[in-house]
Amino acid sequence: MTDSTGEIVDYYTARFREDTRLQARPQGRLEQLRTIELLTELLPEPPARVLDVGGGPGVYARVLASAGYQVRLVDLVPSHVAQALAGDPAVDAVVADARALPEPDGGYDATLVLGPLYHLLERGDRVQAIREAIRVTRPGGRVVVAAISRFAGPLDFAATGRLRGELIDEARALLTDGVNDARIGFTRAYFHRLPELVDECRTAGLAELVVHGVEGPAWTAAEAAAGGPLADAVFSGALELARLFSSEPTLVAASSHLLATGLVRRRAANDLGEQQPWKQRSGERI
Ligand SMILES: C[S@@+](CC[C@H](N)C(=O)[O-])C[C@H]1O[C@@H](n2cnc3c(N)ncnc32)[C@H](O)[C@@H]1O
Repeated sequence: MTDSTGEIVDYYTARFREDTRLQARPQGRLEQLRTIELLTELLPEPPARVLDVGGGPGVYARVLASAGYQVRLVDLVPSHVAQALAGDPAVDAVVADARALPEPDGGYDATLVLGPLYHLLERGDRVQAIREAIRVTRPGGRVVVAAISRFAGPLDFAATGRLRGELIDEARALLTDGVNDARIGFTRAYFHRLPELVDECRTAGLAELVVHGVEGPAWTAAEAAAGGPLADAVFSGALELARLFSSEPTLVAASSHLLATGLVRRRAANDLGEQQPWKQRSGERI
């Protein structure tokens, strides 16, 4: 288990404002709009109990609480937890690590893990975070897990006219190890290929897996058009395509964020749990 807690807390406390990120650029606005739409489609009806792991300052937790969900937020960064506790509506929140949740087994109808996977560099840690989400969710409940696409950074730099020199070298390096160089921006982080995210979710035990591309294949067009005469029209088109091609397997990886979702298996009377090989369910689409 790698401990990057200090780096993550320092980044979000002293160097970056997470609470305004989703409004700052077209990519973030598409991310927020589509994430809320997908959660609305996927989550059980309110007043279901939802655990928001890596919930940050509470943007999604507040939307869900306002819609009538019983929400609790967990985050590694104390200032994020303080913002969630002080928000309107206030959200119940606690500082903790996604790999060791201070929650009982099966206490939630749905669990979100929208952020921690980016910051966990080792596969074993990422699988452990997904396993913890499954543990705290009741059988038949839903788990939603976000990853950043391997290609998000280079696509962003190209769309905004910044892909030169060391950023091309970084794009090449990313193809081999998936690890973000913090000197380019963000923290050290892991950026997924689609099959890796599928493998990690399956290994953790999620059933009936579906992966959505959050921003859709035209988010880079919205970035390139920002501030120009076509900005609103291109943004609307990008949003429509994000909806239309949301779980189209051949386009999912063009999004900046990947959203994997699945169900917690119900234990049959003769279920041998981890000893049984994972079986493909008929509803699975990736
Ligand atoms: C990019 S923010 C995402 C916030 C929000 N969930 C969203 O999707 O907009 C990533 C969040 O994950 C949190 N985080 C990172 N590693 C974590 C871990 N191991 N356990 C819990 N939270 C973690 C960070 O503190 C941060 O608030």
